[in-house]
Amino acid sequence: MPFRVDYGFLSRRLRRELKAATLTDADNMPSPPYVNGTNRVAVTNLPTPDYYHYPWVALESVTRTHPGGVLVVWPDGQHLECHPLWLRENCPGPDGINPLSKENDLDVTDLDIASRVSNAFLEAGALVVEFTPEARRATFHPGWLRHVADGVHHPFSLLPNPKPWTTRDLQIPPTHNGSSVLEDDEALANWLHDLLETGLARLTCLPRDSHVVELVGRRIGALRDSNFGVTWHVSVDLDPNSTANTNARLPAHSDLPSRETPPGFQLLHCLENTVNGGQSTMTDGLAVIKHLQVEEPDVFRCLTNLKWTFFNRDANHDHRWTGPVIDKGDGRIPWTFRAFHPVRGFPAMSQHEIGDSYYSMQRLGEIANSSEFQIRYELEPGDLVAFDNRRILHGRESFNSQEGTRQLRGTYLDADEVYSRMRVLRRAIMAREQSLGLSNTMEDEDD
Ligand SMILES: [Fe+2]
Repeated sequence: MPFRVDYGFLSRRLRRELKAATLTDADNMPSPPYVNGTNRVAVTNLPTPDYYHYPWVALESVTRTHPGGVLVVWPDGQHLECHPLWLRENCPGPDGINPLSKENDLDVTDLDIASRVSNAFLEAGALVVEFTPEARRATFHPGWLRHVADGVHHPFSLLPNPKPWTTRDLQIPPTHNGSSVLEDDEALANWLHDLLETGLARLTCLPRDSHVVELVGRRIGALRDSNFGVTWHVSVDLDPNSTANTNARLPAHSDLPSRETPPGFQLLHCLENTVNGGQSTMTDGLAVIKHLQVEEPDVFRCLTNLKWTFFNRDANHDHRWTGPVIDKGDGRIPWTFRAFHPVRGFPAMSQHEIGDSYYSMQRLGEIANSSEFQIRYELEPGDLVAFDNRRILHGRESFNSQEGTRQLRGTYLDADEVYSRMRVLRRAIMAREQSLGLSNTMEDEDD
């Protein structure tokens, strides 16, 4: 009878993805102990170069390859070819992976470039190799090798897949309870899951204190400072240093395109809102990209190729960067939108391309602010909305500042902080599963 993991605290989507991401079936657990070099250790304690607890995925076979490495194969046909120098670098122990830091102690200039595998065999499903000319034996955790074979080591492998949306799919931000996210890691995991998948997610029922945005941000990771401060206000200023601090309409835009790497995520916490107007708007840049690629490829080409110089300048700062309005990055995420007319200064293109660039930006604005792509909602006191600043184009309607007060408190985080927190939360969930001695043959109640 299979064990059952209690994933009831997680959203249905996160549970499904965890099920898919879990590496293997612990039913293959061999009988410890076995020989690892000169030390006899239990297989469950076999060190790996990181802090994950890998399920035991016993190997079926190993064969040596031409460059002196090995090819390992699992019973389900999955396989991994291991170069001898990469294997040697990842040997546990001295001049290899430090058992405390779990990082590589071997400087590449000290690596014997002639290292080859002279012998390879399996012990209890683990890979054992002997290196020449060093006369060193090392044992590799088959679960760790499997996570490489499955590509789980790639940067985006443990993160939710972004799902582009339009107003047909989404009318309000995915919404979670703010108090729970402040106190509970599982609630935090569910909120971050929606944030990464949808690009935005809202918290409600938070205290209306000015320090709350910092508390929520630090639940995720380090906050990103800027010339506006670690946290900053959004309200009508008599002497504004940003268009945000006026009562003007802000069309769909992204913040700080004047930086080499604009902030990955932004949090906005509403402290007070008694004005008429000022509704918040959000547009999914990924959906706009998909639309442009199919319907207006010439516009898409201009937006991704023609560059502008953006700037933030005040009495004490002078930030500048040159880039396209849509930066394709690595082709997945982050796509980086550089879209904010108040800080777009100078065309960095030939004269004959400038007209096409203006037309393309105009089409982007018309699409991003259209009812097909842009949602519009009220930001209530105590609400906090988080969004991917490089993917989601945010904005607000104009409002009458004579009739009331609208005060927000904001902060930025680099995308790395959000990604890291999501991975660590998932690691804790997987470790909990294994510490309970449960297999990964989870019975998903949604199935
Ligand atoms: Fe903004």
